[in-house]
Amino acid sequence: MVKSIGKKINTAVFISGRGSNLKSLIKHSKFKNSQIKIGLVISSKKDAKGLKYAKKSKINFFINNFKNKSISEKHVLSQLSKEKIRIICLAGFMKILSKNFIKKFKKPILNIHPSLLPKYKGLNTHARVIKNKEKFTGSTVHLVTSKLDSGKIILQKKLKILKIDTVKTLEKKILKIEHKLYSKALEKFLANL
Ligand code: GAR
Repeated sequence: MVKSIGKKINTAVFISGRGSNLKSLIKHSKFKNSQIKIGLVISSKKDAKGLKYAKKSKINFFINNFKNKSISEKHVLSQLSKEKIRIICLAGFMKILSKNFIKKFKKPILNIHPSLLPKYKGLNTHARVIKNKEKFTGSTVHLVTSKLDSGKIILQKKLKILKIDTVKTLEKKILKIEHKLYSKALEKFLANL
């Protein structure tokens, strides 16, 4: 059970790098009518740039390199339980969570992926859409299951690819889309629980 009335849903955000999606989720969480508060940030990298957003907003954060997956995941699960986290948002988190972790956490895990899933799962999506001369790309917020980038789609936003687009321009345009899409998808998901 995730929903509660009047109280914000305690959310953890997992990152690995820049953290621009974390930044926009934090900004969103501070709006009065947002259903979430961010209670924890987990980073798989100790020098992740995104950690500065957690520090700035005085959000608890932990670093865990997930090198020994089972030990790391055990630690993370206990932190999540200690902080009473009720939903996880993966935001540029470049590790794959095990089936066991997903099962043990029991609550929803969302991810944002820079493609129009089910197309272009995995890495280097922008380079692959350009190489394949796709007309459109986009971003998808979906539920995390044990199959990579394959869980139920919550929301997607499409972008037309121009002839002049490069990996860099697509990355920039997609990030701009993602900074609105993630909170919108999250609110939609929570409203339908
Ligand atoms: C985002 O574009 C996100 O969709 C992508 O990494 C970027 C993270 O940016 N995620 C994945 O590729 C996951 N497979 P950010 O660190 O600035 O939020």
